[in-house]
Amino acid sequence: MDESTSLDNQIILVTGAASGIGRQIAIDLCSRKAKVAVCDKNIEALKELAKQYPVEVFEVDFTDEKSINKLVSNVETKLGPLKAVVNCVGILGKNGEKIESLDIADFDLVYAINLRGAVILTKAVISGMAQRGYGRILHIASISGKEGNPYLVAYSATKAGLIGMVKSVGKEYATSGVTINAMAPALIESPMSDSFSEKQLALLKSRIPMERLGKSQEVADLAAWIVSPACSFTTGFTFDLSGGRATY
Ligand SMILES: NC(=O)c1ccc[n+]([C@@H]2O[C@H](COP(=O)([O-])OP(=O)(O)OC[C@H]3O[C@@H](n4cnc5c(N)ncnc54)[C@H](O)[C@@H]3O)[C@@H](O)[C@H]2O)c1
Repeated sequence: MDESTSLDNQIILVTGAASGIGRQIAIDLCSRKAKVAVCDKNIEALKELAKQYPVEVFEVDFTDEKSINKLVSNVETKLGPLKAVVNCVGILGKNGEKIESLDIADFDLVYAINLRGAVILTKAVISGMAQRGYGRILHIASISGKEGNPYLVAYSATKAGLIGMVKSVGKEYATSGVTINAMAPALIESPMSDSFSEKQLALLKSRIPMERLGKSQEVADLAAWIVSPACSFTTGFTFDLSGGRATY
């Protein structure tokens, strides 16, 4: 059993790396000497990132199955077989309204990006990893998926779906050498948290026993361990990162 936390030379794909948590994870993985492929629909921001850090840039649209499949094949053709994937693509959708005012088109978009896209990505990478006998897949879910945040129906439901998908696939591939896990952060300082109304932000912050928002680097530190060889006896699990809010 290889229990190393080293990510030296490992080919790792980070999705949603143009901004916030995904960007910080990509930067952190570079500092750990991984070979990092970054993707996003915001290609200009990725090009800026590539000026400062040794990342390979790929474009993807998570609403499009072909685009995700092409991404995986392009990354593996250019860099080699993936050791790990950290999926940070996600959108909040419209928030602040009860379900009676839910915009179904918005729900469909949140579903397409947060859950359908994550399923397609998992499907695209996992068989190659299983054939090679090793892989690490990490999806960034949310505390909303564990607890359900009010006025965030689409987001909470799709993040709960992501947690369910990870539990299911974790069992399917448990003996393959591939682990698939999720992480459920509470509110993290990021462009996404900036988009909340003051009222919503105060409500969410008040539920965190540590009385502060999390930091992207705290997400990156935990992610780096989850996608390392050392995290070898945990699959289908959702790691907590909630300042004490959801200690299960
Ligand atoms: N920020 C938080 O408080 C928080 C808390 C818990 C979980 N999360 C989750 O962490 C992940 C990252 O969040 P963040 O705060 O960094 O958000 P962010 O908005 O800063 O980053 C999300 C990235 O996803 C990309 N993206 C959106 N739609 C896309 C599409 N169709 N195709 C390709 N890329 C697309 C965006 O361009 C952006 O770069 C998300 O899944 C989010 O739900 C965030």
